[in-house]
Amino acid sequence: MVQSVAWIVSLVFMLLIAVVFLFVAMNSTKRKEYEVVKKKWYKARTFYGITLVVLMLVVTIYTLRELPYNQPVYAKGEEPTIVDVEALQFGYKLSAREFKAGETIEFHVTSSDVNHGFGIYDEDMNLIAQTQAMPEYTNKVFITFDHPGTYKILCLEYCGLGHHVMVDEITVTN
Ligand code: CUA
Repeated sequence: MVQSVAWIVSLVFMLLIAVVFLFVAMNSTKRKEYEVVKKKWYKARTFYGITLVVLMLVVTIYTLRELPYNQPVYAKGEEPTIVDVEALQFGYKLSAREFKAGETIEFHVTSSDVNHGFGIYDEDMNLIAQTQAMPEYTNKVFITFDHPGTYKILCLEYCGLGHHVMVDEITVTN
């Protein structure tokens, strides 16, 4: 069924292309004033070019504005709890591992050796926040744990033979 539809659609398109070729071939001997044609289509080209750029800008802004990057996740005036995270082969050093539900945490993530990942997973193993742990650089991740439970931290960057054992846990209580 699908094959025959595809076959018919291809046939129709091939026929269309053949007709266009035939049309061009039959008209190619006719003479026309070139300047007029040139002017008309240069105008069209400018119009379509500008339209395309504007359209793409609108689509880009519209689709990117919902990205959560750098959006504050806590109310104004509220102070987040700062937690220092140091990733190393093969584990994490965290300045705190127990938090309260509703508390906003600002993780300051760095690495003491190579590039690692810092991915926070909820109890269903859905990734809810992540950043890179980079040597000599500190990345910030803001997160508010809404539900109490045990959250896993996994490395998301291949960092050596023990990459797969680079797992940690944080606890969120009521
Ligand atoms: Cu650390 Cu992979």
